[in-house]
Amino acid sequence: MSFLNKIDSIKTEADKDILNTNSVLQLEEFRIKYLSRNGILNQLFEEFKKVDKEKRGEIGKQLNELKVHIQKIYDLASTTSPRTTIKPDITDYTLPGRTFNKGTKHLINQAIDDITSIFEKIGFEIYEGPEIEDEYHNFDALNTPDYHPSRDMQDTFYVDSKDKDKQYLLRTHTSPGQVRIMENTKPPIRVVVPGKCYRNEAVSARSLAMFHQVEGLYVDKKVTFKELKGTLNYFAREFFGENLKTRLRPSYFPFTEPSAEMDVECYLCEGKGCRICKHTGWLEIMGCGMVDPKVFEIAGYDPEVYSGFAFGMGIERTLLVKYGIPDIRMFLENDLRFLKQF
Ligand code: DAH
Repeated sequence: MSFLNKIDSIKTEADKDILNTNSVLQLEEFRIKYLSRNGILNQLFEEFKKVDKEKRGEIGKQLNELKVHIQKIYDLASTTSPRTTIKPDITDYTLPGRTFNKGTKHLINQAIDDITSIFEKIGFEIYEGPEIEDEYHNFDALNTPDYHPSRDMQDTFYVDSKDKDKQYLLRTHTSPGQVRIMENTKPPIRVVVPGKCYRNEAVSARSLAMFHQVEGLYVDKKVTFKELKGTLNYFAREFFGENLKTRLRPSYFPFTEPSAEMDVECYLCEGKGCRICKHTGWLEIMGCGMVDPKVFEIAGYDPEVYSGFAFGMGIERTLLVKYGIPDIRMFLENDLRFLKQF
């Protein structure tokens, strides 16, 4: 085939090819075939160098015309629709769908909900008191005398205030909630008080300076210690499960008489004794007792007529026991690998 014929047939082929380009990808294939560095046009120009001098004039002209023509149809095709608007379909329909992380309640708030609803089922109401308390509600009205060590600066965060007659503090327990309820309500009372508490403690695997408690108070005529025990055992069964053993151990609190602490069987050794339970087989979860008559007197209730029981549990503590969490600081670290387990 002569050079001129070749130019002719390439032009025909290019005209056919350009009409078959229906997408950006095909257009690119066209460009590579004809216009790229190793494309047909450049190859022709290479061959053209070998053409005899006398034939060059006519062939060169035709070759240049071919180049201009191919460039023109390519430009036209790339600027006219619909080719430019057809995008290659790069969606991979076999990929799994995207998942969205749903937020959930923090473990502590879940536990507060669980615990309070266990008590709601047997007629307790929920009350929340202030976190900034005064000494009267946090200590005096709970029969906690001036010299009591818990009043010490080392345990209590005191709050500066302009009020000269009142000393404010961050409540060290939820027990002042008991006082506030009794101030405003006549018996019978059945109430639980969840909330944050603060103590000036060195932060460690076992203690935090801010933690949570749920307080409970039941006041009526003829309330007995048996009812206290029955109520707390009901709670323990609901919260920890049917099979966990519990016990009440004598203790002391200024606002209850008699006072006790409730222990549950150690989750790790199941009562045999291990490092976690300090070889006792038991873990303490709350303080409790019969409301001290002095507390009733301060609240204006006649202790000859009314009796009642109270209890207070640390939320973090009950969760450490329930799930075997090794370090109390994990509640505050916001590590999703931890939080997602609950
Ligand atoms: N307030 C006590 C504490 O923080 C816990 C407590 C013990 C609460 C006995 C009570 C109770 O209501 O009766 O350690």
